[in-house]
Amino acid sequence: MISFCGIKLAHPIVNGSGTFDAIAARRAFGDALLDDFPFAAFVSKTVTLAPRQGNPPPRLWELGAGMINSIGLPNKGLDGYLAEDLPQLAELPVPLIVNVMGSAPEDVATLVAAFAERDEVAALELNVSCPNVKTGLLMGADPGETAALLDAVRPRTAKPLIVKLTPNCASPAAVAAAAEQHGADGVALINTLRGMAIDPGRPGEPWLGGGTGGVSGPAVRAIALAQVREVRERVRIPIVGMGGVQSARHARDLLDAGADLVGVGTESFRDPRAGARIAAGLGRMGANSRMIGAATGPARPRIAQRD
Ligand SMILES: Cc1cc2nc3c(=O)[nH]c(=O)nc-3n(C[C@H](O)[C@H](O)[C@H](O)COP(=O)(O)O)c2cc1C
Repeated sequence: MISFCGIKLAHPIVNGSGTFDAIAARRAFGDALLDDFPFAAFVSKTVTLAPRQGNPPPRLWELGAGMINSIGLPNKGLDGYLAEDLPQLAELPVPLIVNVMGSAPEDVATLVAAFAERDEVAALELNVSCPNVKTGLLMGADPGETAALLDAVRPRTAKPLIVKLTPNCASPAAVAAAAEQHGADGVALINTLRGMAIDPGRPGEPWLGGGTGGVSGPAVRAIALAQVREVRERVRIPIVGMGGVQSARHARDLLDAGADLVGVGTESFRDPRAGARIAAGLGRMGANSRMIGAATGPARPRIAQRD
């Protein structure tokens, strides 16, 4: 067992928000999903105060090494989530982390306060890849914006708050430091990188209904590694590292770069059991790396404690 922000987890692999629909998976696989759930904690897709339709189609573009999505965060809104999704997600055999987003700090504070009262929720993840309607700045692209967000949200809950950083900014590490100084318990990175594809039938026109979208998958793995390492050099709070993880080796690399947990996102679309496969591979590697560690000296200290 490991401990992350005080939450006990069976292993260090979780899902990336929005990349594994546990409710649909249970419909497809039945209770077998619960008997052998692929992740140590479940991170929900982003919930907003009001329902959202998401972006017009097409919403996906396949790349040589990943994809671009412009799903646009469709969701039922807070009331719909509390009434319909939360009771089903509470039946999962692992802790639930709810990911929330708002277009003003007060909206995020309202969402956080609503989930603060729910015993089913172990922690909250703040998706800061959204412009503040008042300032026009991405809440996660500027350390001052992130600090103001934390100041609004932190007093509203005693539950762990994880800030999901955006890579689409000058310095994710500076944003992570601001989040830590203003009360965040952890950070998660990377979210998708802004990208676009041209419609093959309409030169110069975007393929995606949203115009641009978010690049994910193997194409972003090297960027994730660099950013996790940079963030680890700036903060002491735990890190959930993700971006292009397809194998236990990739997960190990992120852990060695300074992550405490690893998120698996795009790979779950190819292999819904990817989380379990990677966790098992990591377990086998752990036994080996302890032997290697004994020969080469002690491992670097980690924030997450092993029991
Ligand atoms: C289809 C899709 C939907 C996503 N939805 C969300 C979301 O709702 N909220 C969020 O914070 N991140 C979302 N993400 C970002 C992922 O959680 C993750 O940060 C990113 O994809 C990088 O990991 P990966 O390369 O393993 O996919 C989404 C990614 C994809 C591909």
